[in-house]
Amino acid sequence: MSLSVRNIAGESVQLEEVAFARGGEAAVHAVPSFPGVAVKLYHPQVLKQRGDSLRTKIEAMASDPLLTKLKQHPGVAWPRFSVFDERDQWRGYAMRRAGGIRMSVLAHAMAYREHFPNLDRPALAGYLLNLLGTLRELHVSGVMVGDYNPANFLCLPGSNAVTLIDCDSWQVVAAGRTFHCPVAAPDMLPPELLGKELSLVRRTPESELFALAILIFKVMMLGRHPFDIIGGESPVANIRKGCFPYGLGGGGIPRGPWFNIWSHLPYKLKEQLVRTFRDGTRNACERTSVTEWIDLLSLYRREMSRGWHDTHVKPAAPKSSQYRGSQSASQPILG
Ligand SMILES: Nc1ncnc2c1ncn2[C@@H]1O[C@H](COP(=O)(O)OP(=O)(O)OP(=O)(O)O)[C@@H](O)[C@H]1O
Ligand SMILES: [Mg+2]
Repeated sequence: MSLSVRNIAGESVQLEEVAFARGGEAAVHAVPSFPGVAVKLYHPQVLKQRGDSLRTKIEAMASDPLLTKLKQHPGVAWPRFSVFDERDQWRGYAMRRAGGIRMSVLAHAMAYREHFPNLDRPALAGYLLNLLGTLRELHVSGVMVGDYNPANFLCLPGSNAVTLIDCDSWQVVAAGRTFHCPVAAPDMLPPELLGKELSLVRRTPESELFALAILIFKVMMLGRHPFDIIGGESPVANIRKGCFPYGLGGGGIPRGPWFNIWSHLPYKLKEQLVRTFRDGTRNACERTSVTEWIDLLSLYRREMSRGWHDTHVKPAAPKSSQYRGSQSASQPILG
């Protein structure tokens, strides 16, 4: 049995019959005649429950003139157009097919070795910078990712390319309407959104920045969650309290490689993590911005290229203190 879909003009295209990947809502198929394209077909149950609202959102995303440039963006699998089956029923959408491995594999104490055998800290910073550049463009377009699930950020080994997938869950303003982001892992949410009905809340640049800082921490710290304290409470309980154990007065870094890693991170980077995870839990204005992260991580990468910081993913020993001049990322920001 072959599987084909059509666009609105009735032009049909053959899909690979067996999906190359599946999620909770949809199956994703390759298109043999267009290797750069993937087609996401929602599961029948999802179509039954929410097919009409999904179609409205996807078509608004694909047609809004202020957002069409995102269809060409190499960093996002933005919906390009709707696809229909032989009976002209709406089934899903076509998008760019991304290469790469989930960021949750990159940000993991062991798993990264198989897919990223030469991974080092400059490469980690490179992936984050690429992602940050994309987020900056999305935010300028009023798009809030909302669901900072590292499994939805695909990292291409041997490059710094990151592609964001599962775009249909994002918060977008399109065709004159706001479509909310109904999903997120609770431990990636800022305190003000915890316990809220996500399909009704409006994500803001500040709510994005809290989740983003958690993601940056995880990438820098082998997937460890910043609010996850051994023997302590759950990450969500600690997020509510702003209880971040790293840095001065934090109450103790968990045992394991995290002490060494944290000690080698430049002061200015740590300062912004502490700021976002302590002051930023209560005061959303105290969350480090995308531009600030770009500046800091660019500086970190530059300084690593000069040999100023350990570049190993898991440094073997803690950092011995060395003065690097007042402009270095290792020094406090003055004034
Ligand atoms: N544009 C793409 N390029 C390459 N692979 C993709 C793309 N989109 C999705 N995939 C693959 O298909 C899987 C499922 O896709 P996606 O996460 O969009 O589905 P979903 O059903 O909406 O998932 P969830 O239940 O997490 O919302 C992904 O984990 C990924 O492996
Ligand atoms: Mg989804």
